Amino acid sequence: MRQSGKAVLNYGEGKMVEFPVLGGTIGPEVVDIRTLYGKTGMFTYDPGFLSTASTQSTITYIDGDQGILLYRGYPIEQLAVSCDFLEVAYLILFGDLPDRQQRDKFVQTVMRHTMVHDQINRFFTGFRRDAHPMAVMVGVVGALSAFYHDSLDINDPRQREVAAYRLIAKMPTLTAMAYKYSIGLPFVYPRNNLGYSANFMRMMFSVPAEDYTVNEVLVRALDRILILHADHEQNASTSTVRLAGSSGANPFACIASGIACLWGPAHGGANEAALNMLEDVQKQGGVARIGEFIARVKDKNSGAKLMGFGHRVYKNYDPRAKLMRETTYEVLSELGLGDDPLFKLAMALEKIALEDEYFVSRKLYPNVDFYSGIVQRALGIPTSMFTCIFALARTVGWIAQWNEMISDPDQKIGRPRQLYTGAARRDVVPIEKR
Ligand code: SDX
Repeated sequence: MRQSGKAVLNYGEGKMVEFPVLGGTIGPEVVDIRTLYGKTGMFTYDPGFLSTASTQSTITYIDGDQGILLYRGYPIEQLAVSCDFLEVAYLILFGDLPDRQQRDKFVQTVMRHTMVHDQINRFFTGFRRDAHPMAVMVGVVGALSAFYHDSLDINDPRQREVAAYRLIAKMPTLTAMAYKYSIGLPFVYPRNNLGYSANFMRMMFSVPAEDYTVNEVLVRALDRILILHADHEQNASTSTVRLAGSSGANPFACIASGIACLWGPAHGGANEAALNMLEDVQKQGGVARIGEFIARVKDKNSGAKLMGFGHRVYKNYDPRAKLMRETTYEVLSELGLGDDPLFKLAMALEKIALEDEYFVSRKLYPNVDFYSGIVQRALGIPTSMFTCIFALARTVGWIAQWNEMISDPDQKIGRPRQLYTGAARRDVVPIEKR
């Protein structure tokens, strides 16, 4: 971070104050307003943080206008094709791609933490079978802090590292347990000799009564889905994890807070909502009646949104959506589902949205969630599990961002202020006189 200039604020009767303008490696510069309140007695006002940089970070860079996404400087298009998820996880956590020895050691360490304390099984039986799996994951991940007391001290780098390995390794196991519990099938223990994604697929889809054969094409597709979801700058759930971590909360509680935030349909819940939307449109006549659906989306009173479209940062095509569409096509072809009506409906919707003035003028392009539901459905993952898979992948990014926040010398507890528009001071009137 370097000072590249100054910003002058003229306010009140001829009062003026200067602030440093700071630049990073690439991307927008920032006006450092940390002294604004002390100098002027005023706050900035930015609901939704459209113009606010909450931190400096070296992890992920997004250029929304160009549709660029870099993890530690590497383009997502190259990582998604040349690396597997644990290689990318290593990159996001430690700052560079591992060599063969580093990778093997990292994989071995992660895969030796895949089991969970056996008493955690009892948490699942406390939920209704039809509980949303994200409700289960929020509860169970937060409860890990009741088991792993030797990795709660956030001021101990070694304990932070152990917590990181435990979370990355156990999220697939817990996610698969949430799925198995919801369908009344027994939990499947991890198999450490399998790869990360193959192990997850086996825990999700194998049953004790039969042998399970891993389909490498489907495993590779899942692995790519995890890579595409691994991190994404200061999005809502990452900002939630950072804010929770800034109070000194333990790593498991922080990740549970990220899972809770990700669940929202405007954020990580959009893939579930997008697939539900496609299925609804399909039921109402599919491609033949898309026009009526699009008209409803344009009608503000309908409340209908084109789920899987639009993004706070991307005002161009989300690079992850392009890769997700390619992966969807590969999986559907592998499974002989090339004529999948939902995929055809999705591509028809995308074509309309990319040409229709309503969407073009608002720069509403497909985002990562638009195709991810279709490919996960083809992999046999039920709709209600889509956001759990998103949380599984994003745990790597949340941990890296949380670690960066704790290690930042400028770090303080996050405590925004407000513009108060409520009642001025007034006295209480006894109830008999109200
Ligand atoms: C993720 O932040 C991240 O990085 C998130 C994420 C990650 O990896 O962490 O990328 C993952 O959350 C992707 C986004 C998934 N959400 C959805 O697909 C839900 C549908 N999208 C919208 O809810 C919306 O686009 C947001 C929430 C994603 C972005 O909202 P913004 O930036 O606050 O934009 P906005 O709501 O102000 O919309 C601008 C205009 C509005 O119309 P006008 O008031 O100007 O007339 O566009 C309209 C909105 O009504 N609009 C949509 C729309 N999204 C925005 N209209 C129809 N369909 C949509 N999907």
